[in-house]
Amino acid sequence: MKSSRIPGFYNLSVEQRRDLLKKELDFSAEELSSLYIKEPLSTETADKMIENVIGTFQLPFGLGLNFLINGKDYVIPMVIEEASVVASASHIAKIVRSAGGFHTEATERVMIGQIQVVGCSDFHAAKQAILNEKEVLINAANAAYPSIVSRGGGAEDLDVRILNEDSDSSYGKMLVVHMYINTCDAMGANIINTMVESVAPIVEEITNGKVYLRILSNYADKCLARARCVIPPELLSTGDYSGEEVRDGVIHAYEFAASDPYRAVTHNKGIMNGIDPVVIATGNDWRAVEAGSHAYAARHGSYGSMTTWSKDQAGNLVGEIELPMSIGTVGGATRVHPLAELSLSLMSIESAKELAQVIVAVGLAQNLGALKALATDGIQKGHMALHSRSVAIAAGASGEMIDIIAEKLIEEKEIRVGKAKELVEEYTK
Ligand code: MEV
Repeated sequence: MKSSRIPGFYNLSVEQRRDLLKKELDFSAEELSSLYIKEPLSTETADKMIENVIGTFQLPFGLGLNFLINGKDYVIPMVIEEASVVASASHIAKIVRSAGGFHTEATERVMIGQIQVVGCSDFHAAKQAILNEKEVLINAANAAYPSIVSRGGGAEDLDVRILNEDSDSSYGKMLVVHMYINTCDAMGANIINTMVESVAPIVEEITNGKVYLRILSNYADKCLARARCVIPPELLSTGDYSGEEVRDGVIHAYEFAASDPYRAVTHNKGIMNGIDPVVIATGNDWRAVEAGSHAYAARHGSYGSMTTWSKDQAGNLVGEIELPMSIGTVGGATRVHPLAELSLSLMSIESAKELAQVIVAVGLAQNLGALKALATDGIQKGHMALHSRSVAIAAGASGEMIDIIAEKLIEEKEIRVGKAKELVEEYTK
């Protein structure tokens, strides 16, 4: 892949952008054909995906640019309806790129399957009995899904907890088995659920209890991805604000989110603004990622920030993010939805681990974009600038005229197509 830095991409028409993708990013017409055809997800395919289908629902598909992650260039597919998100991610990625890019890592892709056991006469004895039969249970789980074992994954370990031991209610007392399953490049819901369902009868036999729930946990805290960036303050200056002021504003904003759930929810919503569009574009389950991410943000006992922002000894702004990332690059919609396949190849993604790292880097960029704007001019200025650009385009402006007309509209505080048309006429005279 060539560079993800494509100056002026936003000023091109959709057709020109597609042509450029072919030329600059070595994309074949065939690979891009799913973007050209009227209905990229056919009703026929959709009908096989869910029930009661009456059609499909489309959203804008844009590209986050300038991303440099672990030295590799990425154009990031982003599917989202909200203006400013793609522009903001690309703006921050450009800054971080000048500071060496994002540095990311990921744990092994170990997901959790839960088995709930109730009605044991002695919960401690039942727990010990399960631990004694660990090997048997792990082997049985793997026998239920041999293909994941042949791909180098499968059930690897388990542990057991007793919940509500002192509860007066027999409904509350339970034993919970956690089976740790390496799902490799799959998100793994089917693998995990098949495994826990298949070992449940053995668990009942061992414990003399009754199994109710057998399901994966979306709190995938053993399947984490991390991203970090270190930005010299001089790269952060904007308008009348010095880089140091912006850096300090971002850190103050982080401390606000870290200490107040009312702010943390909005702060984290801004992070999910970056994460969800990539999760959706790659055909992954964004509800699973959302649920896991928010739970992880509350892991210390109260709901807090998904990111941290601080200053290092040299005065650089340091940003970090760590989140569970239950996504995949094989199975599910990732290979059924034609655009999901295109998204993965746009990024030349080779594994789920790599995709997870890209996703959290975009989340970190998105967060900085929001905090930088909030700590300086406020977010409305950027929104207005983008809005006036689309009004200018709707009025027929193109090329360099777009920015000129857009600026005039803001200056004259009249952001409407009628006014823009007058300006376009004047300009083209
Ligand atoms: C808007 O979609 C997201 C923000 O509210 C995030 C934030 O407040 O940090 C701008």
